[in-house]
Order: sequence, then C-alpha cells, then structure tokens
Amino acid sequence: MDPVSSSSLSPFLATAIDAARKAGDVLNHYAQRGFHIEYKNPINLVTEADLAAEQCVIDVIRSRYPTHSVLAEERGRVADNPSAYVWIIDPLDGTTNFAHGYPAYCVSIGLEYEGECVVGVVYDPTRHDLFTATKGGGAFLNGQAIHVSQTAVLDQALLVTGFAYDIRDTPRNNLDHFVRFALRVQGLRRTGTAALDLCYVAAGRFDGFWEVTLNPWDMAAGTVILKEAGGQVTTFLGAPHSVHQPELVASNGLLHPAILKVLQESLGPAS
Ligand code: IPD
Ligand code: CA
Ligand code: CA
Repeated sequence: MDPVSSSSLSPFLATAIDAARKAGDVLNHYAQRGFHIEYKNPINLVTEADLAAEQCVIDVIRSRYPTHSVLAEERGRVADNPSAYVWIIDPLDGTTNFAHGYPAYCVSIGLEYEGECVVGVVYDPTRHDLFTATKGGGAFLNGQAIHVSQTAVLDQALLVTGFAYDIRDTPRNNLDHFVRFALRVQGLRRTGTAALDLCYVAAGRFDGFWEVTLNPWDMAAGTVILKEAGGQVTTFLGAPHSVHQPELVASNGLLHPAILKVLQESLGPAS
C-alpha cells in the first residue's frame, strides 16, 4: 500500500488527534490549577504545563509507534531511531499567552514521512477547535472541510505575524516588515501562536501570515493543514518551503505575490 495515501495515513491521524486532545486536557488542568514558570531567557518562558503536555503526547505516540522518531520542542530528539517517520511536537504553542491567562494557544502535532509533512493536527483547548489534515485528504475544522479565503488585494487583507524570542538581539527582528505591512493592509495581528495562525489562514480567518524565525514544531502541522485547505507556503523569496528553515510566508495563494513583494522591498536593494 502507498505509505502516504489517505487510508495509510488515517491511523497516524487518529493517533495525533488522540494525543492532541489528551494534551489539551493537560493544558486545561494546569490553566485552572496554576503552574510553575521557568525562564529560558527574560522573555522566553517554559511552564510545567509545556513539559507535562509534551510527555503526554510522547507517551501516546510511543505506545503505538515505538520505532518512530520524535522531535519535541522541550526534549529535542527523543530516542532518535533512524525511522522514515518523525513526529514533530509543540505541546504548547503560545506559552506566553498561556502564562498570562490569555486564551490563544494550542497543541501542535505533525508527522513527517521521508522529510515531507503528511499529517497535521492542531488543537485549541480553549475553543475546542480541532484542525486536522492528511496529505491529499483535505483540511478540516471539527470535521468540516475548510478552505482559504478569496481575498485578492492587500487593502482588504487581514494578515498576521509574530516575533521570535531573539527580538532584542538581532536586526532580523521583523519590525521593519511589520511597519511596512501595517501601512498596506486592512488589519494586522500578532496572536502569539504560529501554529494557530497557520490554521486560521487555512480556515479563511486570516488571509496571510509571515514570520522570520520559526522552529519545525511551530510549522509542521499547520503547513499541512494550510496546503490541504488550498493555501500556499514559501520562503520570503518564493522558493519551496521546508519546516527545517526558519522563515515562512503563508497565504491564500491569491495574495502571495503581493506579500512577497512587500517582504522583498523590506529586504532593501542590497540584500
Ligand atoms: C512561539 C509562538 C509565537 C511565535 C514565536 C514562537 P511558543 O512559540 O508560536 O507566535 O511568534 O516565534 O516561538 O514558544 O509559544 O511555543
Ligand atoms: Ca511554538
Ligand atoms: Ca511551545
């Protein structure tokens, strides 16, 4: 059987959904009970809930697929078996929001097969929004098919972006892009959860998204969901995107050339 046909992928999708819902329950539990916070740097937090939700996801996956590789945000490569299958996990995307009680965060679980993301599940436990996709099988929100928006011009577009934790340390901090887009679009948001941003583009709630420095676990699930909803994902120069490269431009496809143009203007004539 073709290892990436929709029917071959459905057991993996079911596993990811089960793990994401269980981890979402863990996050809800800590949101109610309170949690300990540690600081990776003054603006980069990790809570007890990140670690507990990650352990929960890993336990579900490894109980069913003990030979698969796992790449998880907090633990890195777990038992790095030479498997064609790599589960890429962000147990809590939106940690700063979570720590402040701002209800915009999710669990993100992607599955890579031979270097290509083929399954994506993103679960928002505050709204009970479950975004799912398998390669070639379409994208869904709580079981209903989703599609990107039809917005074709920046004047009518609602875009979203984010800032990395090195914002104070690098000139590549996205502030120049942010300013230029703010003057060109109908609205611009910074939600603090890249995985949900991708899903919101997939569902037509946003029209486009860019970010300069992301990690594989921020993008693995959301990019499958976005592509299956009819969206486009590239680098800032319009090249094919890999979750192992930090920059990402995601859109409904119609707006993609206009978004790339603004990003390239911001890069300046010499870069
Ligand atoms: C962060 C969020 C945020 C994005 C940052 C990410 P975390 O992930 O996705 O929206 O702007 O670049 O690091 O730390 O909350 O998992
Ligand atoms: Ca993240
Ligand atoms: Ca995280």
